[in-house]
Amino acid sequence: MRAKFWHERWDRGEIGFHQPGFNSHMQRFTGRFGIEPGANILVPLCGKSLDMLWLAEQGYRVTGIELSERAAEDFFAENDLVFERITASGMTIYRGQMIEIWAADFFKVTQRDLPRMDAVYDRAALIALPPDMRPTYAAHFTQLVDEGTPVLLITLEYPQQEMKGPPFSVTGEEVDELFSSAFEVEHLLQEECLSKEPRFREKGLTRMEEQVFLLRKRGS
Ligand SMILES: C[S@@+](CC[C@H](N)C(=O)[O-])C[C@H]1O[C@@H](n2cnc3c(N)ncnc32)[C@H](O)[C@@H]1O
Repeated sequence: MRAKFWHERWDRGEIGFHQPGFNSHMQRFTGRFGIEPGANILVPLCGKSLDMLWLAEQGYRVTGIELSERAAEDFFAENDLVFERITASGMTIYRGQMIEIWAADFFKVTQRDLPRMDAVYDRAALIALPPDMRPTYAAHFTQLVDEGTPVLLITLEYPQQEMKGPPFSVTGEEVDELFSSAFEVEHLLQEECLSKEPRFREKGLTRMEEQVFLLRKRGS
């Protein structure tokens, strides 16, 4: 999935991944981060997710990274948030009071560009990427965070042969393969979700589960 694909989806408004409310797993499990208000949370491939609003309401400072400037603009406009548009590290940053969205390619953002991140929230980022890009995503992601950093990771699992992604199916085994060399991986939850997603049933899926993981970066 290259940049052009995503820009076209945003231009055409084909953003079925965007949730109209807050993610219940995020609300249930962010307490496991063990971080204090004022902490920085990174949201890779953030789209215009309302989850960023909820995280900010809990007192966290949110940094989203998103290719689409349209997504960033829509996020601030649709939520009536004041922002300024600045350029730093060669990137355009939409800066609000508690939330920043960096309009950038995630793979080009380095740890030097970012403030220290105390936690990461990935919903529909890993599963947005095709199999050949996921190891690169995991490796890049690993470099962005320090020892001890917790990550809430939400993935989907379904018979991949029944539907072309995105979203792609990512199994628990693959999460282990991608992350267990650098992170402790705890499987928090598996939940049937096809019944809540008629658009996927219409595409021919016979089963779909949401999987929730808590990762914590190990010391080197
Ligand atoms: C499936 S959507 C998920 C958005 C968001 N996490 C949510 O829960 O609504 C994936 C998003 O990643 C963005 N994206 C894809 N590749 C990217 C990249 N290399 N760097 C930054 N954003 C990217 C797309 O534009 C899209 O908005």
